[in-house]
Amino acid sequence: MLPDQIGFTCAACHTGQIEYRGTSLRIDGAPAITDLGKFRNALELALAQTDAVPGRFTRFAKRVLAEAHSAEQAAQLQGRLQALLAKIQQVKTITDTVADRNVEEGFARLDALNRIGTQVFFIDLLGAKSQGFDATANLAATTAPVNYPHIWNTHWFTWVQYDASILQPMFRNAGEALGVSAKINLVNPATTLYKSSIPVQGLYDVEKLLAGKNPHSGIPGFTGLRSPMWPEDILGTIDQARKERGRALYQDMCQGCHLAPVNEPGFWTDKRWQPPNAADERYLKLVEIPVAAIGTDPGQASILGTRQISLPSYLGVAGTPNESRTIVTTTFGAALAAVVDKTTNLWYDEHHLTEEDRDRLNGHRPNLLQTKGIYKARPLNGIWATAPFLHNGSVPNIYALLSPVEERPKTFCLGNREYDPEKFGYRTECAAGTFQLDTTIPGNLNTGHEFRNGPIGNGVIGRALSHQERLDLIEFLKSL
Ligand code: HEC
Ligand code: HEC
Repeated sequence: MLPDQIGFTCAACHTGQIEYRGTSLRIDGAPAITDLGKFRNALELALAQTDAVPGRFTRFAKRVLAEAHSAEQAAQLQGRLQALLAKIQQVKTITDTVADRNVEEGFARLDALNRIGTQVFFIDLLGAKSQGFDATANLAATTAPVNYPHIWNTHWFTWVQYDASILQPMFRNAGEALGVSAKINLVNPATTLYKSSIPVQGLYDVEKLLAGKNPHSGIPGFTGLRSPMWPEDILGTIDQARKERGRALYQDMCQGCHLAPVNEPGFWTDKRWQPPNAADERYLKLVEIPVAAIGTDPGQASILGTRQISLPSYLGVAGTPNESRTIVTTTFGAALAAVVDKTTNLWYDEHHLTEEDRDRLNGHRPNLLQTKGIYKARPLNGIWATAPFLHNGSVPNIYALLSPVEERPKTFCLGNREYDPEKFGYRTECAAGTFQLDTTIPGNLNTGHEFRNGPIGNGVIGRALSHQERLDLIEFLKSL
């Protein structure tokens, strides 16, 4: 039996909250302005104090065990708390050895891929016994924090994650569940390997809710979790003349990559919609741009393909074996795909799912991975609610994104939820408790996706935009 535990669901990272002059807007599926690093530190401190500060453990035990409980029960509970604290300390001692290479994530960002790698292939493998195996080899720093992406419509895209690396919704969600510490047995071959606490059916149910009905059945359109409409009554009316000028600029300078607006027929007839599959569903293959061409920070796009993972051979993952064949080595991407596949398949086997049901829970897509050194261009519906921008959140608002790199702020603060409707992002003043993002640190680079006169390439993707043109484009983006 796996012990009970609580953890994050999707909403922890994918729920936005915008404040504007005293009005709060809760936005399902938008990036959360939370700092999970700070949260984790505070939680660990609270746990340690619960153990050490007189009176606190008694209070805790009363709440957990009920007012009346035996001394033995309390001692048992304290033993478990201390074992947890010891484990946290053990992990911290080892992860501290790479801490000087960490890029601070701060508010609204997380190095999700590297953290998943460290959770699954280091923490979950601590204590694995295979000759010569040392989980510490799989430790990596968090070097490429990304802004929590918005997740409306994503079910209907082929490849997701910023680097367009993952095809199957179940792989993405089960991988994420492991990343936020779902339990999994990777260390004890004497019991069932790959047995996990991942709520596989629950992940499917969440995905289904987000996806909505088949957008190509009937009048084309997305249902499920839809992108938020610009609230004119709160953030200001859209200027129609400016919006129309912005529309022309969008068609000319953005549509080639970000596609026709979702609320126009051209979006639904785009040739990038793949032919229907056996389930009569069509998925949209987004435009992918090589990192060298888009010129944004290269960090995230290289993690899955270059980080190396070694695993005990008993896990049955393909890779290059060591001499005594007790360990195999492969890329992080391949290792994660294999582990997630085995974990979900075990669950399917244990629940006697038919091939048809497995295909349905997998979102009718195979568990494939691509690592091509690219970033994908999403449709921009609802983009007003998703600051900060670019995959690494290095640009605070759209006005800055449409400006040449030297006009983008070199440093700015995240953590403020007050919205700036002119610039299309959160306010960036620093105050106690905010996080200062320094764009000169690799991982935080704010280069690329730039509009500048001169040759296209190396991060320049269009001609320079005047101040008026930037505002016209912003006005149009409000209507998406
Ligand atoms: C701890 C924070 C966290 C939790 C919890 C979380 N996610 Fe995410 N999610 C992220 C981050 C960060 C990324 C981007 C990773 C990357 O591309 O490197 C992401 C990526 C995604 C994407 C791909 C978006 C795109 O445009 O490529 C989808 C869809 C998604 N998550 C859905 C979910 C669902 C569904 C759940 C719950 C089962 C969930 N997430 C739980 C942080 C989280
Ligand atoms: C050559 C293709 C291309 C063109 C042209 C283009 N984009 Fe992009 N856009 C991308 C790619 C690729 C990304 C993702 C880059 C990254 O995250 O590193 C992106 C990201 C963005 C983002 C950030 C999305 C987010 O989730 O943070 C916004 C906003 C955006 N583009 C707006 C525009 C606008 C407005 C125009 C036209 C003025 C435009 N883009 C033109 C390819 C393009």
